[in-house]
Amino acid sequence: MQEIFESKLQSKLPNLGTTIFTTMSALSNEHKAINLSQGFPDFPLDTQFEDILKQNLSKNVHQYAPMMGLPKLRDAIQKLISREHNRQLSIDEILITSGATQAIFTAIQALVNKDDEVIIIDPAYDCYAPAVKLVGGKCVHIPLNQKFELDLERIKSALNDNTRMLILNNPHNPTGAVFGKDQLKKLVGILNQFPNCLVLSDEVYEFINFTNEAITMHQFESLQNRLITVSSFGKTLHVTGWKVGYLTAPKHLISEIAKVHQYLVFSVNHYAQESIADYLNIVDIDTISRMYNQKRTLLQGLLENSRFNLLPCSGTYFQLIDYSDISQEKDVDFAIWLTKEIGVATIPISVFFKEEFSQKVLRLCFAKSEETLTQAAQRLCQI
Ligand SMILES: Cc1ncc(COP(=O)(O)O)c(C=O)c1O
Repeated sequence: MQEIFESKLQSKLPNLGTTIFTTMSALSNEHKAINLSQGFPDFPLDTQFEDILKQNLSKNVHQYAPMMGLPKLRDAIQKLISREHNRQLSIDEILITSGATQAIFTAIQALVNKDDEVIIIDPAYDCYAPAVKLVGGKCVHIPLNQKFELDLERIKSALNDNTRMLILNNPHNPTGAVFGKDQLKKLVGILNQFPNCLVLSDEVYEFINFTNEAITMHQFESLQNRLITVSSFGKTLHVTGWKVGYLTAPKHLISEIAKVHQYLVFSVNHYAQESIADYLNIVDIDTISRMYNQKRTLLQGLLENSRFNLLPCSGTYFQLIDYSDISQEKDVDFAIWLTKEIGVATIPISVFFKEEFSQKVLRLCFAKSEETLTQAAQRLCQI
């Protein structure tokens, strides 16, 4: 019986195993390593946020929330986007989602059709390609150049009448690169020649930007009727376990996205939405970049005398380290060795590429307490 079932089951994602984040975190637990692999903070919530949570516990916020999200949260997001990104949206252009991942998946499900081409910039966050494949779309992978900048020539030559969507992530995971206004302007100049191509801009690290550059795609008026932006409160407010995020899109697109959202999720955690809305009214968003900048400086200082070479990090909470002075092993093998023998779990970055990537580079997450970073750096400096 089991055999008959298996012979009829055709995997929709045959080449996909467990994600590298799950694998490295499991290995880290097994070897009691310090986990700098997965991108989540290990420090407590702001006490003001905790107080809001305590107050809201006894409110009537434990049943289904409205399908598009709580109006008070969408209102707070509207103000945030107006203040921080200088764009005026109506709350009908904002949808609350179960994290950025669901926003991305839902937008692709709603807007990409079979055989449509979707440009993915490699190295890429791992949920993009499976979401495209599940709708029968074709992933067109364009790598960043050697300096981790957008390869505008290759993007231009990949665009054609079948390109339904381009997915951009800025600030960029895993490289920590920030594509500045100049690169973005040139990209938009190219996209203006392809008015049918939607732009899905994954901006989950929008408030962890150490440059003075405005990185949001909200700033480009010519794109606004085909732009979907994705954000994550997990990243912005250090609550990755809540899985609450949002997307913005013009009305003709968000109405299609909402049709999928309605049957995929319907309603996102009401208590979390209420609490985030209250917190957004009091939090100073600028403190986020400042706090992560201190952590970045601390880690970089601690690793200064190590044998690793630190690559530039302009945004996100990821620092890339080059280990080519230490070993010529492949990055996956070296990351496993580092976890087992040195006790520090990292992420090998070749897994984010479709094409072969042979540089000897690992990703460290510095969204960690000072103590965790110091201990991890001490171990890394022993090598
Ligand atoms: C680039 C990028 N996009 C999306 C996500 C997913 O965010 P969420 O946890 O809100 O689903 C992540 C999480 O690591 C990410 O790094």
